[in-house]
Parts: sequence; structure tokens; C-alpha cells
Amino acid sequence: MKILVTRLLPPETQARLEQQDVELIQWQHDQAMPRDTLLSWVQGVDGLLCLLTDRIDNEVLDAAGPQLKVVATMSVGYDHLDIPSLKARNIQIGYTPDVLTDATADLTVLLTLAAARRMKEGIQAAETGEWREWRPTWLCGSQFTGKTLGVVGLGRIGEAVAKRMKAFGIHRVVYSGRSRKIEAETALGGADHVPLNELLQVSDYVAVCCALTDETKDLFDYSAFSKMKPSAVFVNTARGGIVKQDDLVRALEEHKIAGVGLDVTTPEPLPTDHALYRFPNCVILPHIASATMETRERMASMSLDNTLAALANQPVPYGV
Ligand code: DGY
Repeated sequence: MKILVTRLLPPETQARLEQQDVELIQWQHDQAMPRDTLLSWVQGVDGLLCLLTDRIDNEVLDAAGPQLKVVATMSVGYDHLDIPSLKARNIQIGYTPDVLTDATADLTVLLTLAAARRMKEGIQAAETGEWREWRPTWLCGSQFTGKTLGVVGLGRIGEAVAKRMKAFGIHRVVYSGRSRKIEAETALGGADHVPLNELLQVSDYVAVCCALTDETKDLFDYSAFSKMKPSAVFVNTARGGIVKQDDLVRALEEHKIAGVGLDVTTPEPLPTDHALYRFPNCVILPHIASATMETRERMASMSLDNTLAALANQPVPYGV
């Protein structure tokens, strides 16, 4: 059996990978594999362990050939995989749910606090000498106590974000999404399923925690930002494609919202001259929500389990 792994994995899983009785082809770098290398190296493999930076579409699947049994992505998001084509070809699909919930929820809260408490401006003021004395209203932001959190997509991560923010004093949680999540509502001690428009109007903090799909692409456009409170903070740790970025720039220019925290953008990396970096109230991180060593090691390990199971003609343990 031959497997292609498109990146060096975290150390424990890398060691386990190297012990496997398979023919291993691996991009031994900590940068994404170039597309033409992927198309060439994937030929004839039985398993493909990839990352969210690899677009796996019909071109890759044609190049791989009909023996390909599994595509296992080291991510919970799978918008980079052409799911209908994989299913049509009976190729098993593995992903890494649950293990990154805590790390991602932690970072969502961090970004919300950073934007709400004007952390970027504070750091800049301290570092540039603009910090001269304590002033009663200088760099005042907003606090969670008694406020409303709007979660767009109350899945595993959305629920974990709401749980954390309730501990910080959030009074009401509202959420939008296709269906009501009764179990999550109970676990949170109450949360209201509302239409997106209502969520935008009533929320002090809006956290995007949904998957990128045809339905959620560009969901946050100028009209959506215009419906939010001018004091509201918007945070996206899901996928950049859920936000129309030019519209976000316009909304910030027009002070439609008070602060923004982004861990995901379009494209990634976001070019250093992008307009979004100009706003002191927009905190941008380089897609690191799941970046704890524990989580990344677990994600890699699950991806390897998925790959090996499929090669042994077993169902993948963590399948899409
Ligand atoms: C995922 O796994 O989809 C995350 O975006 C990575 O942090």
C-alpha cells in the first residue's frame, strides 16, 4: 500500500507514521505542497493524508487513479474537499471532529475579548509611548456582563464558545442555523434559536462558528454588518469565505460595528498591505485557532487512524 502525506506531521504522529508497513511518500516540509507536485506524487497512491491547504478536486482524483481508497484531512473543516466527487468514486473521507473544539473555542473567546477590550490599540499605545497617564475613559471597551452573544452555527465549537462566554457573564445566548439544537440549549441552560436578522440586531457579540457551505458563503455582507449594533463585536474563527471582506472593510470605515476579530481570511495568508490591517479595532490572527500542540498532535493521529483503517478495508473511524 502506498500513501501520500502532504506535510510533515507533529512529532509523535510523524514517528508513528514512519513505523507503518506502507510505502510512504511525504512532502517533508512545513509549507504547503505545490499543486503540480501534488498532482504528480498522488499518482497510484491508495491513501491520501492531506491538510486544509490542499484542494482535493476531480483533477487530483483523476491524477491519483481508481485505486485511491481514502482522503483523510487533518482538519475538521472540509470545504477544500470535493465531497460529491469523492462519494461518487466511493472514496472514504476522514476528518478530525471534536478534538479541536476546546482550542478553537478558547481562541474565539480570546479574539472576542481582544476586540471588545481594544487590545490592539492598547499594545500599540504601550509600545509607541502614546501611553502617558491613566485616563478615565481612555481605551475603554465593552464587557460581557449582562450582554447577548449571537452564535452563528451552534455546533460543537459554537456551543463551547457559548459555554465559555456564559462563564464570563453573558446573560443571553441566541443562535442561528438550519435547525434547533435542543441538547445544546439544555447544556447551556437556555439559548434561543432565532433568524439571522434577529441575531444580528440583538447581539452585542457575534461569533461565526459554522462551516463554509454554499449557504454560508458571503453570509456576512454589508447588509448583515449594517444590521448589527454599532457597539457590537464581530468574530470569525470558522472560514474566511463566510465574510465578504470588502464589505467588512466598508462596514469598519463607516463605523457600523465597534470591533472585529478574525482568525480566518480570504486569501490566507492575508497580504500585509490589506486594508483590514489598517483598522486599530480589527485584530487578525493567522488561522491558529486549533494551534495547541495537544490538539494538532491529536488531529494528526486521527488522520493517520483514518488513513490506516481505510487501507485495511475498514470504515474510517472519523468519517464525513
Ligand atoms: C480546521 O480543522 O478546519 C481548522 O480550521 C484548523 O484550525
